[in-house]
Amino acid sequence: MKHLISLKDWSAEEILDVLKLAAEVKAEPQNYAGALTQKTLLMMFEKPSLRTRLSFEIGMTQLGGHAIYYDMSTSPMSGGKETIEDSIKVISRMCNVVMARLFNHADILKMAEHAAIPVINALTDNSHPCQVLADLQTIQEKKGTLKGLKLAYLGDGFNNVTHSLMNGCTRLGINISVGSPEEQMPAVEVTETAMRFAQESGCELVITDDPVEAIKDADVVYTDSWMSYHIPKDEEAARIKLFTPYQVNAELMKHAKPDAIFMNCLPALRGCEQTAEVIDGPQSVVFDEAENRLHAQKAVLLKLCGAA
Ligand code: CP
Ligand code: NVA
Repeated sequence: MKHLISLKDWSAEEILDVLKLAAEVKAEPQNYAGALTQKTLLMMFEKPSLRTRLSFEIGMTQLGGHAIYYDMSTSPMSGGKETIEDSIKVISRMCNVVMARLFNHADILKMAEHAAIPVINALTDNSHPCQVLADLQTIQEKKGTLKGLKLAYLGDGFNNVTHSLMNGCTRLGINISVGSPEEQMPAVEVTETAMRFAQESGCELVITDDPVEAIKDADVVYTDSWMSYHIPKDEEAARIKLFTPYQVNAELMKHAKPDAIFMNCLPALRGCEQTAEVIDGPQSVVFDEAENRLHAQKAVLLKLCGAA
């Protein structure tokens, strides 16, 4: 049995395999219409969501199965009345696969340790692997290749999406530059692992506080919210000040390749991590990226349930 907790746990072959399936699922959805008949996905949410909830719930419907939305604030777990271990053992007796969007990464690791069914990380404070599978699918569609490209990430480096991009890109030989302020650099252990993957796959990982160096000659420019779901509101003003030099605007985009695409996992705020001219401009692929969550998540479900 396999889980999707972090892309660092998946080999390049496994990632490419699921991307190939995602492309097939997108091209010929009817071929998979009954692949998960009678199967149930439990979707546990401690934080809000639009894309992740829709893609998994609609994905299960389209594959012939069923998805249950479970608001964690209504669970015995959140009241401290039941342990994660007991809960996941019960879930394993009734469901076929479970996904969870949680605050603490340690909690999803604990779930995976005690689960008898596949566990999918639907975002924690540490990582967001499902998002990055859809991102890689989008890059492959738009650029026709992955290996050898340069992806530049601008903004909050100590961030779940950033960490998963670092794992996914370096696994597949995509050069990646993270441009972040000193105070918000990626987690050290993520950088160390990604450095090792970069050596293995023959690409470069650059972490810099210089936004121009990060974006220079990039094929893909990526940014994410400065106010992730878990960040307290009272940090907003300080974070806006800290990240403003990393805002993706038309001026900064001039340093990327002229045919660079712009990505944001969404939700996005115009005037913060990017300007409206960029996210609503011709280089932006953010809605193709959002749509690919559906196809990529269907591929993940099919693989983990052993149906493809
Ligand atoms: N990108 C993403 O995960 O979006 P949601 O928070 O809406 O699920
Ligand atoms: N970094 C963002 C991603 C949202 C999909 C967050 O954690 O809120």
